[in-house]
Amino acid sequence: MDTENRLVGAGLQSEEELLEKSIRPKKFADYIGQSNVTENLKVYIQASKMRGEPLDHVLFYGPPGLGKTTLAGIIAEEMGVDLRITAGPAISRAGDLAAILTNLNEGDVLFIDEIHRLNRSVEEVLYSAMEDFALDIVTGKGPGASSIRFDLPHFTLIGATTRAGSLSAPLRDRFGIVAKFELYSKKELSQILKRTAGILGVEIDDDATEMLASRSRGTPRIANRLLKRVRDFCQVLGNGRIDAEIVNSTLGSLGIDELGLEDLDRKILKLIIEQFKGGPVGIDTIAASLGEERVTIEDAYEPFLMQSGMLHRTLKGRMASIKAYGHLGIEVPKSMLPEEE
Ligand code: ADE
Repeated sequence: MDTENRLVGAGLQSEEELLEKSIRPKKFADYIGQSNVTENLKVYIQASKMRGEPLDHVLFYGPPGLGKTTLAGIIAEEMGVDLRITAGPAISRAGDLAAILTNLNEGDVLFIDEIHRLNRSVEEVLYSAMEDFALDIVTGKGPGASSIRFDLPHFTLIGATTRAGSLSAPLRDRFGIVAKFELYSKKELSQILKRTAGILGVEIDDDATEMLASRSRGTPRIANRLLKRVRDFCQVLGNGRIDAEIVNSTLGSLGIDELGLEDLDRKILKLIIEQFKGGPVGIDTIAASLGEERVTIEDAYEPFLMQSGMLHRTLKGRMASIKAYGHLGIEVPKSMLPEEE
């Protein structure tokens, strides 16, 4: 399945891009959550500004939709420099990266999303660019080949990835700052939803906000997207104010249950329970049985299933928890229950 376009997926959709931009916080003061990341970054930014140097290269990792691009924008804003945004798959040749790098100004921030998807030859150009702010261009072939070195402006690379483990060691080691993004709490998502509702100019009850927050899989991008869908239903069927009833009925028609699980989440759990006796079962088997990409399940579904205590990852494979049986209304096998006294 196409992760970018599923309804509650965390990918961007072009029709929503404009709105997305307007609801993105532009400064630290408006950025809610991820305090472990932001508190340290504020110090590093202040220190590099005091020294008059660009910020060290930064690697952000964690599930999609948690605000990595947004935070890159805030960093550029705080440093008072321009931000250039691109993505690993968009840079197919070393020359493409060279063109981007030579067009940066001193101190600029280059954001590369999905940096784990850069190909090898592009990655190699990045090494000297990050370390020495230089570009080595090879001319000629064979024994007559030589290389010319060009100086680059001192820039800050911010790389983002959903899978830090897929990054090659030489690339990972060139980031001075590495920060992990965590799923958001219900309270943080409620604050984000209130802020977004204010920007969209819609009124929403507190219990409706909380319901939406607890069904958004710990992900602001999903929360904001669901808010827009609820707003649509409210506009057509409601009285102009978003209440818990309209949230409940909208999420119901989108197939999102009380815990925020969608159809594929439930299919994953059902498969493990019904076909593999609750697990353990390997991720490749799960992906093949459901006709999905392994990375889709690993990046977009598992983090929340694990955080909500439905799924466990063990050395032998994935296992459904007792909570998953309960949630799906399937009787828990006696072997899984604690022994009676
Ligand atoms: N919108 C998306 N992510 C956000 C965050 N962390 N804080 C505020 N608004 C957001």
